[in-house]
Amino acid sequence: MDAIVLLKDDHKTVEGLFKKFEKAGERAYAEKRRLVDQITKELVTHAYIEEEYFYPAARAKVPETSDHVLESVEEHHVVVWLLSELKDLDPKDERFDAKVTVLIENVRHHVEEEEKDWFPQVRAAMGRKELQELGERMEAAKAEAPAEPLAVKSASQ
Ligand SMILES: [Fe+2]
Ligand SMILES: [Fe+2]
Repeated sequence: MDAIVLLKDDHKTVEGLFKKFEKAGERAYAEKRRLVDQITKELVTHAYIEEEYFYPAARAKVPETSDHVLESVEEHHVVVWLLSELKDLDPKDERFDAKVTVLIENVRHHVEEEEKDWFPQVRAAMGRKELQELGERMEAAKAEAPAEPLAVKSASQ
């Protein structure tokens, strides 16, 4: 599995969950809770494999994109803190939908920057074989990802 294809697949999965959340009724509290729990699982696993594997490998290979990597980590930081707050927030709380909306806006912006500007540069520098090997390590590492948003490295950076 190519590392960039794997990450784009994850982005699609998360976008699908965002769309479901946006379609859920105002008072569909149980469904919204379930969707946010799924979004959390997907995003925490994704942030973990990016921060532990993809970001360091890409930064080493394309050092001129270091600023992009540093900004990406700050964006992850915001996202995992939002997720940790949502974990303990009642979907009936008036702040719940507002917090999820800001989460979705942040992630969409982040994904767009990864996919449009940065991934093509990484792909050009790394080549197929290296991306395959990295992707295999990332796929295997999903099993060791934490469940807790604040256990991801960027939470405390
Ligand atoms: Fe990311
Ligand atoms: Fe990503």
